[in-house]
Amino acid sequence: MNRREAIRRSLISGAGLAFAPSASGFPLAAGPDFSAADFGEDFLWGVATAAHQIEGAWNEDGKGPSIWDTFAHKRGKIANNDNADVSCDFYHRYASDIGLVGQMNMDVFRFSTAWTRILPNGTGTINRKGLDFYHRVIDSCLEQGVQPWVTLYHWDLPQALEDRGGWQNRDVVGWFGEYADLVTRTYGDKVKHWMVLNEPMAFTAVGYLLGMHAPGKRWPRNFVSTVHHASLCQADGGRIIRTNVPEADIGTTFSCSSAEPVNQRHRHDEVVKRFDVLLNRLYIEPPQGLGYPTEDLPMIRRIENYMQPGDEERLAFDFDFYGLQNYTRVVARGNGIVPFLKGIPVKPARMRPEPEITEMGWEVHPQGIYKMLKYFDRYNKIDRIIVTENGAAFPDRVENGRVHDTQRVNFYRDYLRQVLRAKREGVNVQGYFCWTLMDNFEWAEGYHPRFGLVHVDFETQKRTIKDSGLWFRDLLAKR
Ligand code: GAL
Repeated sequence: MNRREAIRRSLISGAGLAFAPSASGFPLAAGPDFSAADFGEDFLWGVATAAHQIEGAWNEDGKGPSIWDTFAHKRGKIANNDNADVSCDFYHRYASDIGLVGQMNMDVFRFSTAWTRILPNGTGTINRKGLDFYHRVIDSCLEQGVQPWVTLYHWDLPQALEDRGGWQNRDVVGWFGEYADLVTRTYGDKVKHWMVLNEPMAFTAVGYLLGMHAPGKRWPRNFVSTVHHASLCQADGGRIIRTNVPEADIGTTFSCSSAEPVNQRHRHDEVVKRFDVLLNRLYIEPPQGLGYPTEDLPMIRRIENYMQPGDEERLAFDFDFYGLQNYTRVVARGNGIVPFLKGIPVKPARMRPEPEITEMGWEVHPQGIYKMLKYFDRYNKIDRIIVTENGAAFPDRVENGRVHDTQRVNFYRDYLRQVLRAKREGVNVQGYFCWTLMDNFEWAEGYHPRFGLVHVDFETQKRTIKDSGLWFRDLLAKR
């Protein structure tokens, strides 16, 4: 069972196209019936990555262990017992990998800093070699004409802090503040675009409720404490960047999925409402000063036990942009015996007619990104949206030096068409970042699902730009 499927369960305890040769000579799916220029001159195109998924060099140059290093080194936690010790070896190959971003005519390279490369124990002693590494990465972006967009936290909590309770311990707010302060003071003169957290719903629920991600805890009672502490870090992080980086563009990112009823029967509506709270509202409402949506999901009422005086206001921060990350939708049905949610998600493979499904078991549902853009846009305080992740894993094969990933080209074309539709209807979406630059360590699924625009041979570290990468190169050349 993969992560998104797991989140969906946790909440309980298009094809057939014609082909034509393209300018690059590879089989291109029909269309697109839009151009990059349709998105506007200032629209930003990019690729997103995360430190733990690409860097490797897990214990090199003074880096300390993160919860993901520990978790992946335990047998049976990751598919095929894979780990990210070497991964794409971005630590040594960053310059040529950033070169690939430019070769695909992308404007932005989104990456995260590894907390334990900089503060090996999470707090205290600073590792200069770790700080130097990100200077090199940022300088390489700037030299190659690519904008660096930095995420402060993409799931790799220092193991030393997990040993002290991790996200369940309110002290994490101070620990994170120390790290965020150091990183933004260090790179603030060169980096202007910042994201505080990556998908807090994913790392709290799958790490602390389901135990399928690091640190592997199944602790429903304490899960809500991790939500509160992550929400405090989310807003505090914004304030720290505001203080340290003049004119910073500050955002944070959220997973989101449109929640829909299996059919029009009234009994499914309440279920959908509860799924919607957990998948979408729980993290995006507190920064807007709306508090936690406890009235629509009683199971999270216990969060009030962790609130201290002043927290309500402290949860709010006026982000410059909201990072929207969308992959699929959730179709839910009522089921009275299921605790809390009183409902279950329907597996895409059981839907009739059976939809197109990715390697992760997720339904390809391009309209979902349109619905979520409109959904975010309904909030008064969300002024600007960047799609900070969207993409898909499909089985890829290198044949004569090419990867004809037509399904992925179709996926991007269809999702982008829906982004444009929302934009044309007035949603202020100003950027779109593909997940991901290159095939990498896909968390508990290891190296099997390939999400990259660039294929990586993990034996030789050879990179091959897939047809989808060439498709973007051609699309973005005409701007
Ligand atoms: C996101 C996550 C990424 C990547 C992607 C594909 O939720 O932020 O790190 O794993 O999903 O599964």
